Amino acid sequence: MSLAATDPIIRADRLSRDFRNLKGERIEAIGEVSFDVPRGAFISIVGPSGCGKSTLLRIVAGLLAPRGGDIFLQGKPVTGPSREIGMIFQSPVLLPWRTVLANVMLPAQVLKLPPSQYEQRAHDLLRLVGLSGFEDSYPHELSGGMAQRAAIVRALVHDPAILLADEPFGALDAMTREQMNTEFQRIWMESGKTILFVTHSIAEAVFLSDIVLVLSGRPSRVLDVVEVDFPRARDIDVMGTDRFGDYTKRIRARFAATSAVEL
Ligand SMILES: Nc1ncnc2c1ncn2[C@@H]1O[C@H](COP(=O)(O)OP(=O)(O)OP(=O)(O)O)[C@@H](O)[C@H]1O
Ligand SMILES: [Mg+2]
Repeated sequence: MSLAATDPIIRADRLSRDFRNLKGERIEAIGEVSFDVPRGAFISIVGPSGCGKSTLLRIVAGLLAPRGGDIFLQGKPVTGPSREIGMIFQSPVLLPWRTVLANVMLPAQVLKLPPSQYEQRAHDLLRLVGLSGFEDSYPHELSGGMAQRAAIVRALVHDPAILLADEPFGALDAMTREQMNTEFQRIWMESGKTILFVTHSIAEAVFLSDIVLVLSGRPSRVLDVVEVDFPRARDIDVMGTDRFGDYTKRIRARFAATSAVEL
């Protein structure tokens, strides 16, 4: 199954990647994965634990080389980290000794961007996510949801075209997670970014995405490409509709069918 777009902002072409474990055995993580991400789209990746989702994001981010296949950003081969990428990592990773403002300014600092201009942008983004007034707070003074919102600001501060998010809400309770989903949709709609979003939650993927990429267990391949056509902005109530249930059932059925084959 493939997902082909004209002039995609990200193109993954037959990517594969293996690792050696401590015993020296070869672990095939990504079998063969191809997809295109249209500019401005919200794309989610779902797949069983250990199928290579974080590995895939690291390849797109230029932090890890694929073993086989090619990865392109805006038509150019990826050879290393790009300032067109912002990344939200799998666990909240604010530096405890830095204030919120100093944490979110980190990418601008690393890229040596003019501090005054980007500090203004940091303040604007903190306002957008409801963190005005917490600039001088330290991470231990924030709730889990607030820390995660700060991590979103940090990924956006240098104004990248693409946001890669690796299970950003995995550690949050169900209610905060629902609230973050609605907020994240709003941030995406207001910022015009392209988002590649990894999640374990099929419902979260369907709620947020234009397209859900369904990966198999290791070595992963693309099992299905599900286009979700609910209008925006989506309200959390959409999750209770029959059509929403049809999408989640289709994705679950894909997983069930392949695990039966592999047993
Ligand atoms: N640096 C590494 N060295 C050795 N093995 C690795 C390394 N990184 C990942 N792996 C292996 O590759 C496979 C895929 O790992 P990855 O973290 O990408 O999975 P994932 O889909 O993100 O899992 P999860 O949903 O649990 O976060 C796993 O078997 C993991 O053990
Ligand atoms: Mg992962």
